[in-house]
Amino acid sequence: MAFKFNFQSHSKSITVEDEDDELTAKTSKEITLDVPTESRTRRNSIEIQPKDHKTHLPHEVKTIKQEFQGVKLTVIEQRSLEIYLTKQDFGELDILEAVSWHVDLAPGVYEGGFKVWECGVDLANFLCDQCIEIAGKRVLELGCGAGLPGLCAMKKDAKAVHFQDYNSEVIEYLTVKNVLLNNKDKCECRFFSGDWSTLVNAISPNNPKPCSYDIILTAETIYNPECYEMLSKVLDALLAPDGVIYVSAKCNYFGVGGGTRLFEDHLTAAGRFTSEVYHRITANVPREILKIVRKT
Ligand SMILES: C[S@@+](CC[C@H](N)C(=O)[O-])C[C@H]1O[C@@H](n2cnc3c(N)ncnc32)[C@H](O)[C@@H]1O
Repeated sequence: MAFKFNFQSHSKSITVEDEDDELTAKTSKEITLDVPTESRTRRNSIEIQPKDHKTHLPHEVKTIKQEFQGVKLTVIEQRSLEIYLTKQDFGELDILEAVSWHVDLAPGVYEGGFKVWECGVDLANFLCDQCIEIAGKRVLELGCGAGLPGLCAMKKDAKAVHFQDYNSEVIEYLTVKNVLLNNKDKCECRFFSGDWSTLVNAISPNNPKPCSYDIILTAETIYNPECYEMLSKVLDALLAPDGVIYVSAKCNYFGVGGGTRLFEDHLTAAGRFTSEVYHRITANVPREILKIVRKT
């Protein structure tokens, strides 16, 4: 699931590669997303209250079983959800077009959460494989999409798991449903959508001392260097003093600019955190899991 597209952040033109093989696909066709300029404004963060989604899982949306180092999850099957989504009336065509054209993301409109990305799978495997103490902890997954790492934290007896994705549609149609399919009642789950720049206030409205998290998880969210400042600020605001952040990402996002080294450089320059490569996955495009803590 490498990035399969080239985009220019402020243009309507997006090049989409054929979807068959993410690493070898080379043929591409250019499509145009008719995205009104006003919908490019970053979305304000809000808390989403899960409605009675369980009984409303449409029959055409399938579920599959997935296992991460012995931890079993039931999750929405991606393709059947995509087919279902293309038949819905979102009232806002952008995200629907992105899904139906298999556009991985369109900056400021759709940030890719309907798809399960490989670093999300890496982080889920890592959490279940390593002896990371999760029981009783408060966990936040930023840029969750399907939320596999957060779901694994839930299964490993986290006290609370809060999920955030840029798109409310992703939270409502995918994340909430995955949580309901796996939830243990004793875990407190909350859901937020919108831009990181306004997340803190959505989590703790009008509270100068926002609630904090022992563990913050995030996968495939550092592709865009323009977002590093706001991401590091939200991490700083929400991490408990002795908390730990795990960032799962590619070393390089070719054509987009970001990557693990660049993000570490940003953190070092900002002076708030220290970072180490905790786990490395060898591949055509190497992937890493960074462990980040506050600078003492
Ligand atoms: C490529 S998707 C990764 C989804 C999932 N973590 C995975 O690995 O399958 C990137 C995610 O980053 C989040 N994201 C990117 N930029 C964001 C921003 N400026 N504010 C909030 N969320 C953002 C979106 O929620 C999106 O789902």
